[in-house]
Amino acid sequence: MLRNRLRAALPEQVRDLVTAIFDVAWERHLSRRDPAESPHEHEIYVLEATMRLFAAEGLIGLEVKLFGCVVALLHDLGEIRRVTELDIRHAREQGDLAGAERLAAKRARQRPEHMIASAELAHEILSMPRLAIPVHVRDRAVEHIGLHDMVKLGVPYPPRSDWAAVCCVEADTLWPVSPEGPAADLRRRGLGGFGRAELAAQACANFETQLVAYRNSFPRHERFSDPETFLRTSEGAGMLAEYRAYWEF
Ligand SMILES: [Fe+2]
Ligand SMILES: [Fe+2]
Repeated sequence: MLRNRLRAALPEQVRDLVTAIFDVAWERHLSRRDPAESPHEHEIYVLEATMRLFAAEGLIGLEVKLFGCVVALLHDLGEIRRVTELDIRHAREQGDLAGAERLAAKRARQRPEHMIASAELAHEILSMPRLAIPVHVRDRAVEHIGLHDMVKLGVPYPPRSDWAAVCCVEADTLWPVSPEGPAADLRRRGLGGFGRAELAAQACANFETQLVAYRNSFPRHERFSDPETFLRTSEGAGMLAEYRAYWEF
């Protein structure tokens, strides 16, 4: 089912090549990932959202589409073993101050490590001769993957001069408020048996902690496409409005 959804989302001109890339990523990394930690639908959703944003923003060239597809499918290959604020607080409450410090330091390192590991693994796959992706597309995709979560670290990335990368980041960040994303957060926390009210509350919390909070990463002169979030494309703002109507917040 996942593969059918993948193929349906891929532009025809790159469908076979990107499916072959996905198959390698699946075999080497994605199939080994715990779906409760990070569901495979994430990559497919990001691909669909990226293609929608690209189409709306007029990014229709073959190479830019290839860039967007590869980034969507390979950006999260590097595992992220989440240390939560709760883990740190728990260690502190147990009186383990050194342990709490260690966890806090580990938490701070996680994002950069995730981005670097993802870029390295993507580079390995995209360098396989049989996948024959142009070297400059590979390098551009790997470079972006190595920086894709910078906004979460308070760095205003990507610049407007790289509009394709702007679309890629927006597609990734819209997942936690999309109809599918909030369930993934609840499952990761080991919660089961949740209903629509819990999902809607999670979507609303994600909206605040991510889309709204990340706006602070940008300088004041940045132009946004809605009054609250860091979204800069009008299609991204339109998708967000759809999701807010869906979750009713
Ligand atoms: Fe990521
Ligand atoms: Fe992601």
